[in-house]
Amino acid sequence: MLRAAIITASDSGFAGNREDKSGPVIQEALARAGYEAVEYILLPDDREKLANEMRRICDDKTADLILTTGGTGFSSRDCTPEATRDVTDREVPGIPEAMRYYSLKLTPRAMLSRAAAGIRGGTLIVNLPGSPKAAAECLEYILPALSHGLDILTGADFECARKD
Ligand code: MTE
Repeated sequence: MLRAAIITASDSGFAGNREDKSGPVIQEALARAGYEAVEYILLPDDREKLANEMRRICDDKTADLILTTGGTGFSSRDCTPEATRDVTDREVPGIPEAMRYYSLKLTPRAMLSRAAAGIRGGTLIVNLPGSPKAAAECLEYILPALSHGLDILTGADFECARKD
């Protein structure tokens, strides 16, 4: 069973001024897809705090996948892609490209997402947008391909691993 951690980046959510609806939406989508949710963390839009938590989860081998939600837009506080790049050693540009490609068919505002994705050790980190609707839309689109990539990353897909 693949293990996933969810990190919500939201100043207002962290301060208790807004309920985090995206985290639970992602949790439900992951459960439907057969993932085990191992952590759910709510953080402010703070580059260092976000990077520290991502680093910890990857280095402790707590999860195969980290999904972040929020902080990918243009607000001066939005820093989730930067925190992700701080900790990843291999970029995975195709995943955010695919999310924007699909989302542009739903809204032109999809081009405003600066989402990134990358790998640290054996963990894949993917940034999702902040709104529950946007996060669900992106996740539903990438989930089918994601499990194949994670099988290769975690060594579960020996057929593909042999081709490396
Ligand atoms: N992607 C999808 N599928 N649906 C959406 O409604 N909203 C966009 C974009 N991506 C959207 C989307 C908007 S309005 C913004 S500002 C960016 O995601 C960044 O969102 P964030 O700052 O909440 O992460």
